[in-house]
Amino acid sequence: MKRIAVLASGGGSNLGALLEYLDQCAPTPAAVRLVVSDKPGAGALERARARGITATTLADPADANALGALLAQYDTDMVVLAGYLKLVPMQVTVRYAGAMVNVHPALLPAHGGPGMYGKRVHRAVLAAGEHESGATVHFVDHHYDRGAAVAWARVPVEPGDTEQSLADRVLIGEHFLLPRVVHAIAGGAIRLTTSGAVVVTAAAHPLFQHPPAPVAIRLVG
Ligand code: GRF
Repeated sequence: MKRIAVLASGGGSNLGALLEYLDQCAPTPAAVRLVVSDKPGAGALERARARGITATTLADPADANALGALLAQYDTDMVVLAGYLKLVPMQVTVRYAGAMVNVHPALLPAHGGPGMYGKRVHRAVLAAGEHESGATVHFVDHHYDRGAAVAWARVPVEPGDTEQSLADRVLIGEHFLLPRVVHAIAGGAIRLTTSGAVVVTAAAHPLFQHPPAPVAIRLVG
């Protein structure tokens, strides 16, 4: 069973979705052993503690040695960025290449990069007049939102959408997509090759069936 560390800066609804998904998997492909935040009051930390999961705050998110040692202390196999707003130090992204994923609330490569998080993303999508948006889960490299994309959860942009109504719809996609990508990677059904290609095997596809309306899933490849 893979041991997961989750990095989160906010309320932790993606962490919650991951925990609930893993609870209903049989056999369990992975377990969250550690939740780390750059913000002492992050709701994600409370969610972890409520479930008896070790939750801690980083004194300096840019300190590669401290983060690397913490992840190693918990024998971390996979790192999941679930609403994490800091750049992960390169030493750590290299150590977890192919085992670190991030969820972004837009259809990358569009509307991503430094400063593009939370409401700013949805504001940009609406300003661009997009007819659809959604969530992307991608492997993490040393740049914001630039790692190899694994899957997209597309949702329509509706007439009259506000940043909040769009954020709420995209979040449905995030909560469906992230846990299933983590499951597929933990089980070897999706992997990143040393040359940076994402390989999706036939075993991955059943995990993504029956998304909730209005979500439509696309896997890379
Ligand atoms: C989500 O839209 C996530 O993609 C973004 O922050 C929002 C809240 O995430 N990074 P969570 O509820 O803290 O998981």
